[in-house]
Amino acid sequence: MKILIPGSFDPPTNGHIDVIKRSCSVFDEVIVGVLVNPQKESMFDVNQRENMLIEILKDYKNVEIKSFEGLLVDFANQMKVSAIVKGLRAMTDFDYEFQMAQMNFNLADFETIFIPASPEYGYVSSSMVKEIFSYGGDVNALVPSIVVERLKDV
Ligand code: PNS
Repeated sequence: MKILIPGSFDPPTNGHIDVIKRSCSVFDEVIVGVLVNPQKESMFDVNQRENMLIEILKDYKNVEIKSFEGLLVDFANQMKVSAIVKGLRAMTDFDYEFQMAQMNFNLADFETIFIPASPEYGYVSSSMVKEIFSYGGDVNALVPSIVVERLKDV
């Protein structure tokens, strides 16, 4: 089965990588879709986000990193995936993710499969990583080392 894991990945966190790696062992083919969102300012441009993911996941042979613009369901159709996979950290994610899953099913009959975050990453988010880093806090336990290096370059 071929699935799509979409996200902003600005930057990729250990939580994202955990869900992607676990998906690689469950599904035959995994596409990671990096959103290009002209309406939202990002810390890293789409090429930087893609390159970080390629580097982090280089040992995983059944994963491919792609960027996309526009509707997720259109990209999912284009990639010929059977389902969308999302990581769920906590109930706070649930309302929004449930609504998106229902909308994506309504738009194009795409199923969404939820994977629960591992407990050690349940509290990790890209926005918190950026905030902590901006105040000089330690993010080593929250993101892969290559992301720490890229954060220092910004
Ligand atoms: O990592 P994020 O920012 O939580 O990911 C959100 C993402 C990329 C999954 C969502 O914003 C998305 O699907 N955007 C594409 C536009 C779209 O299809 N919107 C309708 C969703 S119901």
